[in-house]
Amino acid sequence: MPSRVPLGQIVSSSSMLVLGIETSCDETGVALFELLGSNGAWSSGLLAQALHSQVQMHAEYGGVVPELASRDHIRRVLPVTRQVLAAAGRRVDDLDGIAYTQGPGLAGALLVGAGIANGLAYALAIPAVGIHHLEGHLLSPLLSVDPPAFPFVALLVSGGHTQLMRVAGVGRYELLGETVDDAAGEAFDKTAQLLGLGYPGGPAVSRLAERGRRDRFKLPRPMLNSGDLNFSFSGLKTAVLTLARQQTLDEQSCADIALAFQEAMVDVLTAKSLAALEQTGLDSLVVAGGVGANQQLRDELSTVAEENGHRVYYPEPSLCTDNGAMIAFAGALRLVHGQPSREAVRGFTVQARWDLDALPPA
Ligand code: KG4
Ligand code: ZN
Repeated sequence: MPSRVPLGQIVSSSSMLVLGIETSCDETGVALFELLGSNGAWSSGLLAQALHSQVQMHAEYGGVVPELASRDHIRRVLPVTRQVLAAAGRRVDDLDGIAYTQGPGLAGALLVGAGIANGLAYALAIPAVGIHHLEGHLLSPLLSVDPPAFPFVALLVSGGHTQLMRVAGVGRYELLGETVDDAAGEAFDKTAQLLGLGYPGGPAVSRLAERGRRDRFKLPRPMLNSGDLNFSFSGLKTAVLTLARQQTLDEQSCADIALAFQEAMVDVLTAKSLAALEQTGLDSLVVAGGVGANQQLRDELSTVAEENGHRVYYPEPSLCTDNGAMIAFAGALRLVHGQPSREAVRGFTVQARWDLDALPPA
């Protein structure tokens, strides 16, 4: 998937081959990314990627079991890495750097990727760079064939986060608003649970909503008129619970509730994104994170943005949810800007909680 990336002023001129390792939650994602430079212009390519999903393993518990997640990452990460190198026809000695998800996420799961990345990097005498998982998500639309240019507004909607950011460049993130309680993905997952759809909930709710009847139920749009760019979804979850208790949950009622929930969610995310574009005076909106795969959200955002003279950029659908490519890519951008230095100290940490706007600029 070759693409041109708006990297700004990058002065180095050699190529850089970066392995990316994502193990923050329930996917072992690995990818190989190459930046190629000539005369100050850079093109880039995702050479190979592979993903092992733990969804089936966790499904019988109704959610992610952290200890099982860590153990499965240990089993998978090296075979998946070998698979990616073989698919790209490269050897481990060809690597110029290794990027790994340093946080936020499950501490044990993060430690697996961090340990493997730092161990390999030490053995190969190449740099390892810890990447913020959400930075991976929000830079992932730059991997598409028609990438946005900085600055843009990013709507980050994942299982653990719901944030609006002003993105001026790599590592130049200003928080505009965020959820005060549940994340959007979490609300999808809880709604799915209430409707007996299992885990993970987002795709299941979205599929069921396709058969829902519009206007049968109307759910609240929390904080729609709060005058700021914050979100709240715990009240919406309670409203779904109350509605579900009042109904006989046959298939049609579940579909109607799923649609009412999704419409409320999409309305709030769309209105706040539009307000963020207006407040910042920017024209481009980037949508990233698992909930960004939601088709109704994409349709609504694109329509409303277009009506108001804005443009929305999405990652390739396969790059919306967790993957190694976004980590390899963010790592390549940070390494090419000289972070960390080759003399970097060989200790490493993970950060289960980590604010995106605390990152240093590249
Ligand atoms: O970004 P992601 O893969 O992992 C985190 O960083 O959290 O996001 C996972 C979240 C889950 O809550 C999942 O239910 C939700 O994204 N999700 C969706 C869809 N696909 C995944 N939510 C709504 N519609 C979808 N199609
Ligand atoms: Zn994620």
